[in-house]
Amino acid sequence: MYKAPRGTQDIPPEEQAYWRHVEQQAVYICQLYGYGRIDTPVFENAALFTRSVGQGTDIVEKEVYTFPDRSGKLLTLRPEGTAPVCRAYLEHGYASRTKPIKLYYLTSVFRYDRPQAGRYRQHHQFGYEAIGDPNPLLDAEVIDMAWRFYVNLGLKKLSLKINSIGCADCRPAYLEELRRFYTDKQDKLCPDCKKRYSENTLRLLDCKNKNCQQLAKQAPHGLDNLCGECAGHFAKLKVFLNILGLPFKIDHRLVRGLDYYTKTVFEIQPPEGGAQSALGGGGRYDDLMETLGGVATPALGYATGLERIILNLKEGQIIPPPLPGPAIFIAGLGVEATEEALLLAVLLRNSGIGVFQASADRSLKSQLRQANGLGARFVVIIGEEELINKQVILRDMTTGKQDDLPTEEILKELKKRLF
Ligand code: HAM
Repeated sequence: MYKAPRGTQDIPPEEQAYWRHVEQQAVYICQLYGYGRIDTPVFENAALFTRSVGQGTDIVEKEVYTFPDRSGKLLTLRPEGTAPVCRAYLEHGYASRTKPIKLYYLTSVFRYDRPQAGRYRQHHQFGYEAIGDPNPLLDAEVIDMAWRFYVNLGLKKLSLKINSIGCADCRPAYLEELRRFYTDKQDKLCPDCKKRYSENTLRLLDCKNKNCQQLAKQAPHGLDNLCGECAGHFAKLKVFLNILGLPFKIDHRLVRGLDYYTKTVFEIQPPEGGAQSALGGGGRYDDLMETLGGVATPALGYATGLERIILNLKEGQIIPPPLPGPAIFIAGLGVEATEEALLLAVLLRNSGIGVFQASADRSLKSQLRQANGLGARFVVIIGEEELINKQVILRDMTTGKQDDLPTEEILKELKKRLF
């Protein structure tokens, strides 16, 4: 017996209502804020992610699915959506268009993570990127959009954490200060943080290890070390968030796990004890376009995991609207009725009416039970007697009322009742 690979899952029909509901809300939100959809390939050149997400990050070091293709070219299954969008932006010359360019994606993402509740090796993200505007107003809008998305889905008691990790001008001095703070404490750090001390110093702040967290609490704050430009940006962002009435908390240990961020970073988390940690996260990446070979272009974005959202919807007992079943279920009784039912199914489908045709070798009771389970609105019953009389029985599944109708009138009658 084969099983789905570890850390992946099937999404069976009975789960689809959650997925469609979340996706539809994502599309709606993007229309509300003026974002256009972009789809990028499942795999990219491996170098795209080493350059953007960063060589020393957990994602690139431990989690990417990288493989040579048959010509020996190194490819990587996308471990996130931002770098591919930036690559597409540069490749297609979007830079010449009026900015900001606003793009969103609903896509599968691959990370060789340790599977657990809300953490998979293939997960799905709804993400969006606003490219070409340095104004903190856009930071506020991107955060507002994420918040509204969750509120519209009915998620409650979420927390919004923000921070600024500075820019290329002010961050090096802060990293020096952090290293000074940690110099005589290195023996107290977990093995990962011992490496981070020299390779990815910022991430000493968000280690999950208890001892490391204790130390991180006492570490110097990045916000106290911002340059004038970054401090001003963060101050304005706070003003805009207050105007929007968003209940943010400043978390000086929020640094995010991808190297491309500058200035604003933020995360939205479910209530304490909720499924998995962050529902989503994002931030500014003003230097990324240049890193990828383009001209300097300020940008920011956000992404959220669909599996985690759905886990939280379930925990909050939020039921998505049911997916519509087939409009018509045709129940036939006997071989000849099956042939008549087949012709009728063609006639209805030609008119755009959805049909589920049952196999006629089961009892009417069992066919009606199936129609009910599928959520069919009407059942057309064709038995031996109906065949002789050139009639069908039309059963309204909501009221249970049945009518005999001449076969030739069924299409007209269904159009009347359905449209
Ligand atoms: P990220 O924080 O790595 O950010 O991922 C975004 C979200 O994807 C997470 O908050 C979580 O909901 C979900 N996620 C991540 N890993 C897994 C996993 N293994 N299983 C299930 N869900 C997962 C980014 O990917 C950035 N590209 C976000 C961004 C967009 N920054 C700027 N623009």
